[in-house]
Amino acid sequence: MAGIWGKRFHKALDEKVNDFNSSLRFDCVMFREDIEGSIAHVHMLGKQGIMSVEESNIIAAELASIREDIETGALPFDFHEEDIHIFVERQLTERLRAKGHGDLGKKLHTARSRNDQVAVDVRLYLRARIADIRGYLVRLCRTIVAVAERNSETIMPGYTHLQRAQPICFAEQLLAYCNMFLRDIDRLDDCKRRMNKNPLGSGALAGTSFNIDRGMTAAELGFDGVVANSIDGVSDRDFAIELANCIAISMMHLSRFSEEIILWSSSEFKFIELDDAYSTGSSIMPQKKNPDIAELVRGKTGRCYGNLMALLTVMKGLPLAYNKDMQEDKEAIFDSVDTILQCLPVFTDMLATMTVREDNMSAAAKKGFINATDCADYLTKKGLPFRTAYEITGAIVGDCVTAGITLEDMTLEQYRTYSEYFEEDIYNAIDMRVCLNVRTSEGGPALPSVQKQLSDVKAILDAIDA
Ligand code: ARG
Repeated sequence: MAGIWGKRFHKALDEKVNDFNSSLRFDCVMFREDIEGSIAHVHMLGKQGIMSVEESNIIAAELASIREDIETGALPFDFHEEDIHIFVERQLTERLRAKGHGDLGKKLHTARSRNDQVAVDVRLYLRARIADIRGYLVRLCRTIVAVAERNSETIMPGYTHLQRAQPICFAEQLLAYCNMFLRDIDRLDDCKRRMNKNPLGSGALAGTSFNIDRGMTAAELGFDGVVANSIDGVSDRDFAIELANCIAISMMHLSRFSEEIILWSSSEFKFIELDDAYSTGSSIMPQKKNPDIAELVRGKTGRCYGNLMALLTVMKGLPLAYNKDMQEDKEAIFDSVDTILQCLPVFTDMLATMTVREDNMSAAAKKGFINATDCADYLTKKGLPFRTAYEITGAIVGDCVTAGITLEDMTLEQYRTYSEYFEEDIYNAIDMRVCLNVRTSEGGPALPSVQKQLSDVKAILDAIDA
């Protein structure tokens, strides 16, 4: 196939080099953005008198029909082409020639380079994916809120070091994740704000001598302004790295949540049961119900971290301006985007359909001395210094462990051998529900605090979803 480079080259590209060089296999997903960018560009060329308005309209209409043909499958990609930009331009040129417009298609690339073109395409493509990811994150948060609302009084042990620590309610644990995902949404919005600038008009690197209007293409493409420096416009991939980072962090949150789902659904915990539609069996062990979705989400987090590292590494030694190395940005960031877009909806549905085993959570809360802090707090409120109260309670717990009993099993006489401050009301103070309900500090697990957290989160979701 004759190269688009024309007469500068005397030989066609070696077939293997062509395959090696071509990005069409993965940049073809940006065909809509490529065409949208080109349409904005010709509109601007027409308005600025760089081509006639009539020429501009003919080219724009043909580009729209190419888009439609790609969408319907009538126009398959020719993977011999170097990239989506060349593929579309060649189609345009051939189709306009066939329609009797001569070489009109060859005017499209006036005052533009593939370097600013690709920068536009990727920004537009990733901007749309940010909206998709954001939508799924909102849905995940709403699902978490729904499960939390049903469990605002479900007592469970809270853990530190994976050792039972203090009583919490399941809703609070869930809301912790919700807060992480709300931060993720905020981070995406921030990423989009910096991404959403128009690099078109940067040309190859040094702008152009044509009288272009970068503000016009920015407005048509929905950008909030233009990239200030033409060299930066074609060299910058911060926006892809930032998005890869946002995704890596969200995946880290999903992965931690997955880890808990895996633990909670094990026979050792049995805090939740996954719906049959969201778990898998074993090919040999008939008793098994495996949390494959959660494990896959946890596993796929690794590739998203890898993509972030790949992008940073591709960029680290590049001199300004464009270098072909930068073509490597796409597979990495697209993979991160595709991965999180796959993970979020299945994870959300798995969460929505799981059964919460309140009985097992509260049984676990009764073991493990998670009311020991409350016992120490009780003595402190009776007048002992906290450290002394802590030591006394530690001694009681140690003796209980040896005797195989819990704090609730101890008689008042036994308590009073440790301290005279103990009275009948100790039993109320170490009652699990009381222990939970007295934790009324802001952001804590007591019912009023959890209800406040729930309504705050819902208000935030309503605001960002509007
Ligand atoms: N396929 C290229 C990429 O993805 C497009 C830009 C090509 N520019 C160039 N000067 N070769 O980066």
